[in-house]
Amino acid sequence: MSGKEMTGDRGSDQRAHWDRVFGVAGNYFGEGASEFGNKALDIFRNMGARDVLELGCGQGRDSCLFASEGLNVTAMDYSETGVRQMRERVAGLCLSPVVRCLVRDIRTGIPLPDASVDAVYSHMFFTMELKEAEVRFILDECRRVLRGGGVNLFSVRNDHDPHYRKGVHRGEDMWQSPAGFVVHFFPEEKVRRLSKGYDIVHIKEFEDPADQYTRVLYEVLLRRP
Ligand SMILES: C[S@@+](CC[C@H](N)C(=O)[O-])C[C@H]1O[C@@H](n2cnc3c(N)ncnc32)[C@H](O)[C@@H]1O
Repeated sequence: MSGKEMTGDRGSDQRAHWDRVFGVAGNYFGEGASEFGNKALDIFRNMGARDVLELGCGQGRDSCLFASEGLNVTAMDYSETGVRQMRERVAGLCLSPVVRCLVRDIRTGIPLPDASVDAVYSHMFFTMELKEAEVRFILDECRRVLRGGGVNLFSVRNDHDPHYRKGVHRGEDMWQSPAGFVVHFFPEEKVRRLSKGYDIVHIKEFEDPADQYTRVLYEVLLRRP
């Protein structure tokens, strides 16, 4: 075993890591949509949204929920394995006409026209290995593709999470777990700072129980003025 493997230092190839993880488990985050996705659906229905963009869609559990409830969905993720599995899931549910799945490293921008979606959604995407400058750029991109009055709803793990400051420090507020995931943790002040250019509708803490621990996250709802 190399020194890097012994220390849990797998470098920062998170894209390959997600490909491996999804390759082993077809439903890595469970069978159905997330609770956060269900909450998002209520928000999108109440505002009369039609076109939704999901960032970091993984294997597509939440995009499939939105599409099965009548929304037009564009979903993107940099894991080719995740997107391939999502396409299969979408086809199996006969949702292909209303879901567009793209393999994309979102740090390179969002390939959609200005003012073309009503809502941007992401669950545990901004909390990945993204530097603050990259988060800022992607939030600007989200604002660009949103129609006026459109919303950006996302979740990020926060500084009350049991894994905050645990594992190998990867710079800024990022730590790598023994399982190899690099997580970016957000104090509320950082969320507020990054929300510049949006109206903040709310920042609410919630818990997401997983097998061995409970994640602690912020639900952030921003509106494009
Ligand atoms: C914690 S998982 C959440 C997946 C999905 N939102 C869900 O809840 O089922 C984070 C996802 O973000 C994706 N991701 C991380 N960094 C990315 C980037 N720079 N561009 C595109 N996708 C990225 C990963 O491949 C992974 O699918």
